[in-house]
Amino acid sequence: MSILMTRAQLLLSPIFINKCQIKNRISMPAMHLNMTSDGNMNEQITDFYFERAKNKVGLIIVGGCSIDDTGGGPLMISLEDDSKVESHKRFCEQIHKTETKVFAQLYHAGRYSHSFLLGKRVIAPSPIPSRLTGVTPEEMTEEDINRVVQSFANAALRAKAAGYDGVEIIASAGYLICQFLSPLTNRRTDKFGGSFENRFRFARMVIEETRRAIGKDYPLIIRMSGYDFMGTSTPIEETVEVAKAYEECGVDAINITGGWHESPVPQITGHLPAAGFRFLSKMVKDNVNIPIFLSNRINSIDIAESLIAHGYADIINFGRQLIADPEMPIKVYHKRHNEIRPCIACNQECLDNVFNGLPVGCTVNPLAGNEGNKVKIEEVEPKDIAIVGAGVAGLECAVNLLKYGHSVTIYEENDYIGGQIIDASAAPGKQDYRRLIDYYKNMLDKLRATLLLNKRFDLDEIDKNHFDFIVLATGSVQFIPDIPYAINENSVLARFVLTKKRPYGNEVVIVGGNGVGLDTAHYIASSDTLPAEMTKFLIEYEALPLEKIKELTTKTTRKITVLDMDEKFGRDVGRSTRWIILSSLKKLGVKFVPKAKVVRIDKDGVLAEVNGKEEFFPAQTVILAMGARPNNKLEKLLKDRGDVKYFVIGDARLPSNITNAIKDGYKTAMEINKLCEVKK
Ligand SMILES: Cc1cc2nc3c(=O)[nH]c(=O)nc-3n(C[C@H](O)[C@H](O)[C@H](O)COP(=O)(O)O)c2cc1C
Ligand code: SF4
Repeated sequence: MSILMTRAQLLLSPIFINKCQIKNRISMPAMHLNMTSDGNMNEQITDFYFERAKNKVGLIIVGGCSIDDTGGGPLMISLEDDSKVESHKRFCEQIHKTETKVFAQLYHAGRYSHSFLLGKRVIAPSPIPSRLTGVTPEEMTEEDINRVVQSFANAALRAKAAGYDGVEIIASAGYLICQFLSPLTNRRTDKFGGSFENRFRFARMVIEETRRAIGKDYPLIIRMSGYDFMGTSTPIEETVEVAKAYEECGVDAINITGGWHESPVPQITGHLPAAGFRFLSKMVKDNVNIPIFLSNRINSIDIAESLIAHGYADIINFGRQLIADPEMPIKVYHKRHNEIRPCIACNQECLDNVFNGLPVGCTVNPLAGNEGNKVKIEEVEPKDIAIVGAGVAGLECAVNLLKYGHSVTIYEENDYIGGQIIDASAAPGKQDYRRLIDYYKNMLDKLRATLLLNKRFDLDEIDKNHFDFIVLATGSVQFIPDIPYAINENSVLARFVLTKKRPYGNEVVIVGGNGVGLDTAHYIASSDTLPAEMTKFLIEYEALPLEKIKELTTKTTRKITVLDMDEKFGRDVGRSTRWIILSSLKKLGVKFVPKAKVVRIDKDGVLAEVNGKEEFFPAQTVILAMGARPNNKLEKLLKDRGDVKYFVIGDARLPSNITNAIKDGYKTAMEINKLCEVKK
């Protein structure tokens, strides 16, 4: 390999899957978007994918597409019958106006289907209840098996007729094929259960029948769980056996991902290290001779390039990263790497939206899901605009105003930008939040903002600088409750702990069990566990018994208690992430006390009423995490002054989440632009 290689040379090089040449190694894996109510492709889905295709994604895999009425779900794309082909045809024609290739993922959920949503039988290899849906499926008869095999083949034929460049069969995340492969969910005693050969029989039938239908030259790939992470399910050694069997059946590539939806191991949140499943794709790649895709938590071009360079994968899936920044590939082609807006793995607007029955959007990309509704931005006479506060609302507003050609001065009283995102990034799993701030910093530099750090804004600045508009993005302040002695020498606001401005003792009580309280508990509890490199050191040199190393790595040495008035902790945390934080905190040894009404905060602890009885919780440090209030004192001053147009955005208007702060910044920039005189 030449030492003169450019930064993404391998990532941008072409590759063949069967006879289909893909322009580069950037793939967008299948992602259920919740954007169709009748199974047809529509304008919203087409606009969503066209935006990525025109920006030079090599391969887009759409779906999952349901193949029959027992395996799909509501709001899914469908290839169940011929009536859907026409809409898929129009979709493929549009994508093929670009050089991007497009495959359809063929999907059957088996016991992950919801009977009440399908209004049909839920079928699976064996009647094992699903933790995901609470449904106990019916055991598939041989007739069911043959029918579903045929449905895969028929759906593949429809995909081919519609103009897709290939198909992918889903055998990952715990869906139907996984359910046949795993003895946990396959208890059959017939030719489909027991030995590896028998458990693999259904997968073999699906692949062979599909191949027979579509012909030998048409790309057929399989999405495979590198490991199911289901405890006693299958030994990890079976990964290689399964991959070899897929190759032998004639698939053209294997797309490696992580485990099942029911797995107790995080699969895509920020808790999974970047490209964490590379060890699985390496195992497979070392044992087969077909291209290997890898996914999950790859949101860095340099990591992607090194995965290809070092033999972990041939094609890299950028799932949420391409939701966050559809222009990522073109930015790579143009060597504008530091302008890529990173996915922060929050799941707030993508996976959590799907769980809530809403279409996929994105926290950091206000346009995701609305690609067709882009507002035309007029070229206007540039204005001088002051933005007060460099949290994400202010930063997003600034970047957009700068793009529209205005001159922007940002006032930030701290010596850093990012506001509360910087606090939040201290919590485990949120390390990528800082990358979002790096992106904004790069954009401010590129677009030549005037950034004034350690600088408080006052009204004199308006006269000195003749600002045309003021944007107040001053964020929020933490709420201090009306509890006797809430503020004393041993109590502290959560934000000061997260920003490392205040130390904490060995015995800590956190008052407030929403997201910020849990993040604070997580930060403190894990900050005194062994760091990863120390764990590796102790294991490598067998320096301590494994059980002891495990304890030092996963248990806090402090006594941490979280109190909340409610029964439920983490009410404001999305479904995809809440269980992970709570189970991690429990493992660390953090104690939760629900229905606890704080009566008084003392220097040595908290007195609370729990279930009608007063209880004292001793603490060297009491941390308050009880919500936020707008920090908008400047608003009144500007109102009284009355001679300059101003906007209050983000938490300064209404404390909320990152999504709403960014959306507010984005919309306000457009609103300001509309108020300006159009250039003649
Ligand atoms: C909203 C959403 C929907 C998804 N739907 C599917 C799906 O239908 N089929 C599938 O194989 N994977 C699905 N996935 C998993 C993604 O393909 C991908 O493996 C995952 O997002 C991790 O990759 P990333 O970190 O690059 O996003 C979905 C993920 C998300 C976030
Ligand atoms: S919502 Fe969060 S996780 Fe999903 S794509 Fe956007 S930044 Fe990534």
